[in-house]
Amino acid sequence: MTKPVLTIPTCYYTDPTFYELEKEKIFWRTWQFVCHTTDISEAGSFWTTDIAGESIVVVHGMDGQVRAFFNVCRHRGHRLTEADGVCTRLVCPYHAWAYDLDGTLSNARGTDDVEGFDKADYGLKAVRVESFCGLLFVNLDADATPLGDLHPGLREEILEKQPRLESMIRVHSECVPHACNWKVSVENYNECYHCPVAHKYIVSNLYSADEYRITVENDVVRHFSPRLEQRDVHGDLIIWSLWPNLSIQCQPIHHSVSIRHFRGVNHRQSVYDYLWFIDPDLPAHAKAEVLEMGQKTYASTNAIEDQMIVKNVQLGLESRGYERGPLVLKPGPASENEHAVAFFQSRYLQTIESLAIF
Ligand code: FES
Ligand SMILES: [Fe+2]
Repeated sequence: MTKPVLTIPTCYYTDPTFYELEKEKIFWRTWQFVCHTTDISEAGSFWTTDIAGESIVVVHGMDGQVRAFFNVCRHRGHRLTEADGVCTRLVCPYHAWAYDLDGTLSNARGTDDVEGFDKADYGLKAVRVESFCGLLFVNLDADATPLGDLHPGLREEILEKQPRLESMIRVHSECVPHACNWKVSVENYNECYHCPVAHKYIVSNLYSADEYRITVENDVVRHFSPRLEQRDVHGDLIIWSLWPNLSIQCQPIHHSVSIRHFRGVNHRQSVYDYLWFIDPDLPAHAKAEVLEMGQKTYASTNAIEDQMIVKNVQLGLESRGYERGPLVLKPGPASENEHAVAFFQSRYLQTIESLAIF
């Protein structure tokens, strides 16, 4: 009789060597979410983000172009900005070198008589940036395949389910700490085997655990569950979870959309950025209901329940009493199935070790 498929060894969650390897092989080579285009809709607006320790600034130029740069001054390496805002030039806080929003070094104080110095040699270093369904992504790999080419048809599929996504505005954002390796968070997110046990309120009041379906295809994990009541007003739960660490969720509350971007801090700590977006034309009462759902139901109930789970899984993975466990894999997209965890772990090994086990 064949044995069940086992989870990958715990060293991938407990050994700092692998987190360093993940920076090179995963975070700095895949498309990483930054913000919504409406977050930097004004000419001159900019947004900074951290990609596994690399700070990147995304800028809406005066010419209307969105560009991304390493957030580092070409003089002696000071960080240009720590936040988001609006400006006409990016000015370094150290010696006030100033960069136009297309990255050109336009002013370098006191360098006119420096022999051989040419400002044209010291523009900001550019990073790839793309808009996908109104969401901005960057990729530190200059040779990366465009996001749309990695997922043919996905843009159309998402916009069919939520045609207003490109013009939605952010109404809530928070950074949720997880006391675990980032992969524990992603794996927990991509199975609903635990929902009837750990998320009793949500599966009793919002959407169905029994009818929860998860499918995996071409680096995308899709989740679906029908809302229990008023489906015509609010829509259903639909999720696209993109390898390696982003989920886009059509929430079953006035067709709003949320994003979870899981990010590593070190080998045993992570965070996820949790952002909610709504159609700006939504009536005030509907907007209030979305906020209540986002802040009370998800932020205070669902998020805390998962925070406890992932923390306790990490502690178990660090125990000498645990090595590998059997995954619950069975045919079909049944709710009690861990096939998306198996996909994630297999995809991870393929990336880190150039090896696939499942
Ligand atoms: S390090 Fe930026 S101006 Fe000197
Ligand atoms: Fe959960």
